[in-house]
Amino acid sequence: MSQISRRALVRDGGAVSALAATLLSGRGAAAQGRASPAGAPKLLRLSANENPYGPSESAIKAMTSAMADGWMYSGEMGPLARLIAEREGVPVDHVLITEGSAEALRIAALIYAGAGSEMVTASPTFEQCPDYAETCGGTVHTVSLDKDMKHDLAAMEARITGRTGLVYVCNPNNPTATMVDAKALRGFVDTVSDRAMVLVDEAYIDLIDDPAGNTMLDRVKAGRNVIIARTFSKIHGMAGLRVGFTIARPDIIKRMGGLRMSVPNHMGLVAAAASYQDTAFMAHSRKMIRDAMTQTFKVLDDLGIAHVKSQTNFLMFDTGKPIREFMTAMRARGVAVGRPFPPYDTWSRVSMGKAEQMPVFFDALRAHFKKA
Ligand SMILES: Cc1ncc(COP(=O)(O)O)c(C=O)c1O
Repeated sequence: MSQISRRALVRDGGAVSALAATLLSGRGAAAQGRASPAGAPKLLRLSANENPYGPSESAIKAMTSAMADGWMYSGEMGPLARLIAEREGVPVDHVLITEGSAEALRIAALIYAGAGSEMVTASPTFEQCPDYAETCGGTVHTVSLDKDMKHDLAAMEARITGRTGLVYVCNPNNPTATMVDAKALRGFVDTVSDRAMVLVDEAYIDLIDDPAGNTMLDRVKAGRNVIIARTFSKIHGMAGLRVGFTIARPDIIKRMGGLRMSVPNHMGLVAAAASYQDTAFMAHSRKMIRDAMTQTFKVLDDLGIAHVKSQTNFLMFDTGKPIREFMTAMRARGVAVGRPFPPYDTWSRVSMGKAEQMPVFFDALRAHFKKA
């Protein structure tokens, strides 16, 4: 790769294709995870809810040809915002591009749940938003998931007071992969959004069976106090490229946009635009992840291990032992699984790897539970 000069990249389309081919051919090794320190065993990375099928070939090609433009400031978020607006059926002033959806979660926490304000959220859930609210001086009220590890919407509603500025609902929920019934969530959003801003984190929605039926986008279109956060880190397999987006009423988007700390880098933006239009890649990712999930359910069933049904790229199962012991045991067998998620102290969260990687995990599981 170092043999290809920048000038050649700009002038020579052949060199660009060669570089794209080199990058694409190296993906098999990269999918295992980043290089380990010298001497350390290579770990199969099933710990971070990533999609190892990404980035798509179209995204890699777009980044390769855009590489030589890296000297220019990016800031060109309009084309991506317009693509998103068109597909989601909203005017472009309803869309905000952020550096990963994490940036949007933080901005919302800062505005609506910072100093002097309060937030209501489930526990356990994705912590980025509540953690940042606390960092900003806000108070976070957590409501335990119900016995099925689902959001307890009635209990959450009961926690809302006049000081509540933000209600955060992660659907599907990370780490449990559980989903709230769409009709119930719609009713909850309609009631609660009269009293506080509702942030619905839809990071995993593209992976589920019926994204259109489960998104709360129609509540945004109805003019409610609702923010939808989505990301290119999951189905698009671009977690390291840091692009996310938010859909909300224009006044909300304007306020949030004013607090953005940065703009995504040029590579992330061109990759996101290419991947967003690559519906074949999205379908492929969804299918491969779903196949791996079906096999995982079967292995867990064969081993008699309790687990939560998931339509996403991760699931939780009960190891029956303190989770740190299981993490260490799996690490010794070459597999990294998710960290502890109290109060589910015996439950492990594992993300789907590539088809050819899953047998490594299944063998490690069988060996651990002594059913080889
Ligand atoms: C539910 C949820 N929301 C948001 C994010 C943050 O994603 P991003 O990479 O877009 O910042 C994650 C990342 O794992 C997540 O699980």
